[in-house]
Amino acid sequence: MNPYFSASCWIFILATSLTRCLYGESLPEKSTKNTEKENVEALFSEFWTWRLQQSPEFASEVGNHTFDDRLDSYALEVFRKRMTDAERFLQIAHELLPNLEDGTYRSNLELLISELQLFVDGMKFSGYFFPVNRLEGVQRNLVITVNSAMKFDTTEDFRKLISRYRAFPKQAEEIIELMKEGIRQGRTNHAVSMKHVVEQFALLQKPVELSPFFKPFLSFPESVPSTEQETLKSEAKQAIEKDLLPAFKKLETFIEKLIKVLGKNSSRSDFFQNLRSDPRFFFKTKEDLLNAYKDTVDNIIRPKLPLVFKNIPKAKLMYVL
Ligand SMILES: *[C@@H]1O[C@H](CO)[C@@H](O)[C@H](O)[C@H]1NC(C)=O
Ligand SMILES: *[C@@H]1O[C@H](CO)[C@@H](O)[C@H](O)[C@H]1NC(C)=O
Repeated sequence: MNPYFSASCWIFILATSLTRCLYGESLPEKSTKNTEKENVEALFSEFWTWRLQQSPEFASEVGNHTFDDRLDSYALEVFRKRMTDAERFLQIAHELLPNLEDGTYRSNLELLISELQLFVDGMKFSGYFFPVNRLEGVQRNLVITVNSAMKFDTTEDFRKLISRYRAFPKQAEEIIELMKEGIRQGRTNHAVSMKHVVEQFALLQKPVELSPFFKPFLSFPESVPSTEQETLKSEAKQAIEKDLLPAFKKLETFIEKLIKVLGKNSSRSDFFQNLRSDPRFFFKTKEDLLNAYKDTVDNIIRPKLPLVFKNIPKAKLMYVL
């Protein structure tokens, strides 16, 4: 099932009912204040559902286990869709704010607005092109999610984890595609951020019985019948061996190659040599240089001088080549 469809669907529904509200059509016999509060509550609840659906791994972390069988998507079109979803939430929030009188509701709505704005503003910097580095990435996060964020009380809980493992090849593929697009756009991590990443991946390639991914299946609560325990174990083993670890290996190989190819030019002296010799960093003519200098002084520095100095020299600045 595609979780993103339902999210956009309800935004549409919310937006339509909101429009109806704003234009006073079929308003129930309630005070306007109540209706505003209800609309805000609907927005909060729909935003939260969306947030959890977009990031099933975050949902596990905050203790909602509905989506424990899924993984976050790293597909570029999904990042773009999240952006437009967030912009729509933001628009609805801004429409609700002016009529909202209750102080607590206002504060909460303002917080949501600031959070959404931060997300929308941040998207400009395309941070999603850097999904893996030595401090974060699937090679570190999945083990943590499995062993400290998920719950294992029932047979279904264990089944969800197995489904999560089976979903990993798709996630790994999306990460590879995303990084490839990053390379096309010249957006990759610095070599220093990728140091030891390949070793981190390699550490995951252990026999299943010793794997941290198998750890939840080493002991079961009483609520899981012993006949089912064996089935769960063998299914988990299979999912780890056939789906999870090979996909990790594929990602590792891709990153290892990437570091070899792109890392070639990463030495400090090469970098500075490049700065000194690449024509991109030089002006073509004397006039271009002078104009850029004038522009910086007159239009960027000068307007800011009064912020720091009380007495500004009246004499005009002369530029001489
Ligand atoms: C988890 O989130 C989903 C989606 O918002 C919701 O339907 C469900 O009730 C939540 N579960 C709990 C235990 O809060
Ligand atoms: C390495 O740097 C050289 C010279 O600056 C450049 O021609 C080459 O394309 C670079 N290689 C990679 C893989 O970026």
